[in-house]
Amino acid sequence: MTAIKTYPNQMTDTHLLVNDFDYVQPVTIEDAMALKNQHGDALRARFLAGGTHLLTMLKIERDNPGMIIDINHIAGLNGMSRTAQNELRIGPLTKIRAIFLDAFVRFNYPALAQACGSFGSTQIQEMATIGGNVCNASPASDTVPALMVYNAQVILQGLAGERRLRLQDFLLGPGRSDLFKDELLVAIILPPPDHAAASAFYKISRVSADLAKANLAVYLVRQDNIIRECRIAFGSVAPTVMRIGAAEQFLHGKEFSDELLVEAGKLVSQAISPIDDYRSSAWYRRQLAGVMVQDAFRDLWQKYPLQDQVGPTLDHYEAPSPSPDGASPRYISKGVRQKIEITVNGVKRQMWVTSKELLLNVLRERLQLTGTKYGCGLGECSACTVEVDGKPMLSCLLLAASVNGKSITTIEGLQKSSGELDALQEAFIEQAAFQCGYCTPGLIMTIKGLLSENPAPQEEDIRDYLKGNRCRCTGYMSIVRAVFSAVEHSQSHP
Ligand SMILES: Cc1cc2nc3c(=O)[nH]c(=O)nc-3n(C[C@H](O)[C@H](O)[C@H](O)COP(=O)(O)OP(=O)(O)OC[C@H]3O[C@@H](n4cnc5c(N)ncnc54)[C@H](O)[C@@H]3O)c2cc1C
Ligand code: FES
Ligand code: FES
Repeated sequence: MTAIKTYPNQMTDTHLLVNDFDYVQPVTIEDAMALKNQHGDALRARFLAGGTHLLTMLKIERDNPGMIIDINHIAGLNGMSRTAQNELRIGPLTKIRAIFLDAFVRFNYPALAQACGSFGSTQIQEMATIGGNVCNASPASDTVPALMVYNAQVILQGLAGERRLRLQDFLLGPGRSDLFKDELLVAIILPPPDHAAASAFYKISRVSADLAKANLAVYLVRQDNIIRECRIAFGSVAPTVMRIGAAEQFLHGKEFSDELLVEAGKLVSQAISPIDDYRSSAWYRRQLAGVMVQDAFRDLWQKYPLQDQVGPTLDHYEAPSPSPDGASPRYISKGVRQKIEITVNGVKRQMWVTSKELLLNVLRERLQLTGTKYGCGLGECSACTVEVDGKPMLSCLLLAASVNGKSITTIEGLQKSSGELDALQEAFIEQAAFQCGYCTPGLIMTIKGLLSENPAPQEEDIRDYLKGNRCRCTGYMSIVRAVFSAVEHSQSHP
């Protein structure tokens, strides 16, 4: 097999961040609050968590902050633990994928795990945080309906101290929350699990990686034929995610029947105030919501009697918050370059980057690693997928400064020193799975992530994991075959 050559050439300009900003990496909550308080108005300072929403807003010029405060280096904000009262405490920087994969959450708060699993693409799940999802205050948020049916509370820390609010009181409208200028969301609290309750999350969207036309979380306690308790939270059907109190009160204490559900569906349709947008019409959303709630109750009703089994324990899980080392850019002023150190395909590199340079810019234009493709630039196509510390992420939505100290693998890094291709690349050739060449590197890097998370995936696992990798030529059958072929190869060459 001949080695792949790369040629310096005239490339697409991937510098989509138009406006400049200062970039700061505080390492304490106190510093983050003080920076936000000082620069919140004058510089329109913004906190950066996973960046999947914020950087998109910057790229489409809907937001223009003069300062970005990257909170990823503050210790203690990433991970989950149980409090002395047996509540679940979720750190705001906990990634959506980590919540989806957590056995304790799946068993005790299934609607939340399902909401995280149905969220965007796998890459978005690996990058996006639950705190960012809540603070976004999007009416289409997937985690918020699930959090709401568990009666979640948020803990906000500001210069004046800490506040604890019910999640539904925190969310005020589309993009609006009750967060003061200097405040940071520091935890989401879920009450102790109730093992007499069944709960689930449902989402209807155009394609599986899209935002919801409507989403719904339901919580139900059944006693014989009676609805002893129920909670209903809908997203994408009103200016903010909402609990449907009228339907909850109507169902409470009543005997379960199809007629009862039809009436509850009517109450839901009356309570919501959906809009027409490019995802759906208001009319359709209203009909849909009325039907979704009926189906959800039938589904949960069938789950009884609930299995009386001991669930997995949650070991105090506190993911490491990387503290910047001496080489880290604690502060990059706009227009000024700062040194970062990254490992790219096994080679340590020192680069001087500006605050608004993206990982994609560095890889393609500076390192000539043009295997990483630039498609939409907005997180929608996954052509720019690379591995960051072993996880598939979108290089078009990562600031270069924020990956300081991390290890990046691009498609070029899969080639062995002997010049041989990786077994997955060989499988793509063998199964004719590579097609336009634009999507293939992103697909291969994503599948690398799949196989390290799940070395023996089923077809549905493969299709779900790749849901955000848009291939317009519909070559998915051969791509699925290539994954099976690579798995077979790895099992016969352990
Ligand atoms: C392609 C694509 C697909 C998407 N699909 C979905 C989907 O299916 N479902 C869904 O719900 N969302 C989806 N989103 C929206 C977005 O990914 C989520 O809202 C995500 O959870 C935001 O988290 P983040 O960590 O990336 O937030 P960021 O973009 O870093 O921040 C979002 C906002 O919250 C603020 N913020 C973040 N953390 C804190 C904190 N701790 N305290 C105070 N303020 C804070 C930031 O300042 C910013 O204003 C999608 C986005 C894209 C680009
Ligand atoms: S270019 Fe990054 S997701 Fe499309
Ligand atoms: S592989 Fe690119 S469109 Fe299908």
